Amino acid sequence: MSPEPALELEGLTVSYGGLRALSGVSLVVPAGAVVALLGPNGAGKSTTLRAVSGLVRSEAGQIRVGGIRVDRRPPHAVARLGVVHVPEGRGVFPSLTVAENLEMVRTAVAGGVDPVGGAVELFPVLGSRLRQTAGSLSGGEQQMLALARALLCRPRLLLVDEISMGLAPLVVDRLFEALRDRAAAGTPILLVEQYVEAALELADFVYVLDKGRVVDVGEPADIRRGGLLGAYLGN
Ligand SMILES: Nc1ncnc2c1ncn2[C@@H]1O[C@H](COP(=O)(O)OP(=O)(O)O)[C@@H](O)[C@H]1O
Ligand SMILES: [Mg+2]
Repeated sequence: MSPEPALELEGLTVSYGGLRALSGVSLVVPAGAVVALLGPNGAGKSTTLRAVSGLVRSEAGQIRVGGIRVDRRPPHAVARLGVVHVPEGRGVFPSLTVAENLEMVRTAVAGGVDPVGGAVELFPVLGSRLRQTAGSLSGGEQQMLALARALLCRPRLLLVDEISMGLAPLVVDRLFEALRDRAAAGTPILLVEQYVEAALELADFVYVLDKGRVVDVGEPADIRRGGLLGAYLGN
């Protein structure tokens, strides 16, 4: 028997007040796979991730994580299933030190974990920043900290929202290297990215979202050949 998909969305519909952000989105992240969710601004990518982690309520449709319905569960209950979300923007506490940001992970993870040692192993530059406030780090270092915190939580499904936003290519490469290592170790990832090339390199499957609907789906090579991305993303 094949394992349950890490994530299944079936007809997911979400509105903010009167505004419909997602209209019947269906998507699968197979066990151990990386799925890229691409599309223009306002397409509904972040809303999709927020719906999975329970931060916004769906109006219709189903969300299953490892076969378990989660669309009526609060965020902490979804997190308990191992869903870890690196949100859009900087997912760190800016007024706490880097070490404090890392120590908070301890309470989220059962069993022995050395958050500071683990983070420095992932991103050595953080080792010289431990006593600084997270807000004083460069944008790239803040994303390294955010990603380190997420990875230290030992996700069973990792949701990553535009981690490369506004960063230099070398820093983006470093972040994607960490994602690639974790994917190779079998962690399923749903990746929202504007940096399309990096996403296509990492992904096993790609969904293109526009105006709250899935407009294309395939393997990266199909998506490249189809040319739809150019039409939707202007590149
Ligand atoms: N908190 C919110 N309140 C009202 N509308 C929102 C909110 N967040 C997003 N939207 C709207 O929902 C749609 C989808 O947004 P979003 O999921 O952020 O898109 P993307 O991440 O693809 O840029 C957009 O029209 C956006 O303006
Ligand atoms: Mg977004």
